[in-house]
Amino acid sequence: MNWNEKIRKATTHISQNEVLIFERSSAGKKAYQLPPLDVPEVDPESLLGEHMREDLGHMPEVSEIEIIRHFTRLSTWNYAVDHGMYPLGSCTMKYNARVNEYVARLMGLAEAHPYQPERVSQGALLIQKLLREQLLEITGMDAITLQPAAGAHGELTGILLIRAYLESQGNPRKKILIPDSAHGTNPATAATAGYTVENLKSNSAGMVDIASLEAQVNEDVAALMLTNPNTLGVFEQEIHKIADVLHAKGSLLYMDGANMNALVGKARPGDFGVDVMHLNLHKTFSTPHGGGGPGSGPVACKKILEPFLPIPVLVTKPDGTLGFDYNQPQSIGRVRMFYGNFGMHVRALAYIMANGPDGLRQTTEDAVLNANYIRKGLEGSYDLPYKTATMHEVVFSDRLQTPKGIKTGDVAKRLIDYGFHPYTVSFPLIVAGAMMIEPTESESKASLDMFIEAMKDIAEEAEQHPEIILEAPHNTRVSRLDETAAARKPILRWKPQSEVAEKEAVHHG
Ligand SMILES: Cc1ncc(COP(=O)(O)O)c(C=O)c1O
Repeated sequence: MNWNEKIRKATTHISQNEVLIFERSSAGKKAYQLPPLDVPEVDPESLLGEHMREDLGHMPEVSEIEIIRHFTRLSTWNYAVDHGMYPLGSCTMKYNARVNEYVARLMGLAEAHPYQPERVSQGALLIQKLLREQLLEITGMDAITLQPAAGAHGELTGILLIRAYLESQGNPRKKILIPDSAHGTNPATAATAGYTVENLKSNSAGMVDIASLEAQVNEDVAALMLTNPNTLGVFEQEIHKIADVLHAKGSLLYMDGANMNALVGKARPGDFGVDVMHLNLHKTFSTPHGGGGPGSGPVACKKILEPFLPIPVLVTKPDGTLGFDYNQPQSIGRVRMFYGNFGMHVRALAYIMANGPDGLRQTTEDAVLNANYIRKGLEGSYDLPYKTATMHEVVFSDRLQTPKGIKTGDVAKRLIDYGFHPYTVSFPLIVAGAMMIEPTESESKASLDMFIEAMKDIAEEAEQHPEIILEAPHNTRVSRLDETAAARKPILRWKPQSEVAEKEAVHHG
């Protein structure tokens, strides 16, 4: 079927047959109309010279309504947290409150330019100052930078602070310890910063094994990078002891704080021995992610690391106004142009202030309650490899389904048919066939019940009709894809039908 037929054929869904914008094109159509020129026309070639390009290749030519409908329809293809539950473990896909968007769109903030002089940017600087203060209060740390653009970027910044600190002490070290339950970005970060990564085994409760830690920490170890709660949704109950073991050998404790949705208002990393940590504003503090970004990964640290923070540093000047200080001789330098993703700072502060201390604490409690409600609801239907108390997310495995040939990825595909975004598949690696579920505080009891019911129905189907699951999804626009081919041989460039036909003719000829 060629694209013309594809468009013309009516179906029961309003946007079933959406084609590429290139395929909608017909010569001469325009989505704009300009008024006649009221200034002398300039020959574009005299302006552009040899850079002028007459042939623009295959640019789509469409009317305004065609382009509006095209993108509006495409926007309905995506699953979003505004559509329904998005239990993608480790991603904290919580609702992004509309108040955040309202504030971020206020003209003075949305249109502020980073080259604006400081004296006309006092409001923007005050937002950064307030956010810094709130995050320091929440984490119990001493100093902070808002510059990093994502969680992994925050990790790199934090590890560079540790490296600079140890070097300044004349004590450079070679290794970073990372538990096997860590997020994958942790070892990648350590290696990027030039360290050798040494794996630390978890115990049967899914926590750091203190005896292994004591055996592995020595004068070569710069730091331990610890995700807390870790990717099993387990809080490291001996975190104080872990910090003591490290500090006794002159090593530092880095905490991946991307899972702070389980701790805000309840426990402060600064109080339990952490030296440096990052936060994911796009997880815990409700700024958009998953296609909506950009992210923000502030790094908070203890006093000893403060001199090494990226420049510029936000300061209150002697005249009481806010400004930036570039004169920090021990700084690791910039990690990002300008001052970080400011729009995200605005949203995160709006979220914090709209909730207030009690609201934030309630959020944490609800996130943990929801994860535990799912744990209870699905126990028995799915295998629970670690029985330790669950915090913000719960990790099941596909062990009970594998005898029928069904794996975690198959259950996830079937979940799409029930109207849910899949949970995280096959992660953390420490659990074979992992099903990592993080509901967040955003979900009501009614939606949690629906999710539990769907997962139980799927467990039942696995027993009675495994083929339904193995061929899922059935109710989607696109059925099951060959994911290996999609990853290894992606087709990233559109070619006109005529070229494809030509190529096929050569191939078959
Ligand atoms: C525990 C943990 N650490 C680090 C990251 C990395 O954050 P980012 O994707 O913003 O780089 C994530 C991302 O979800 C995470 O869950």
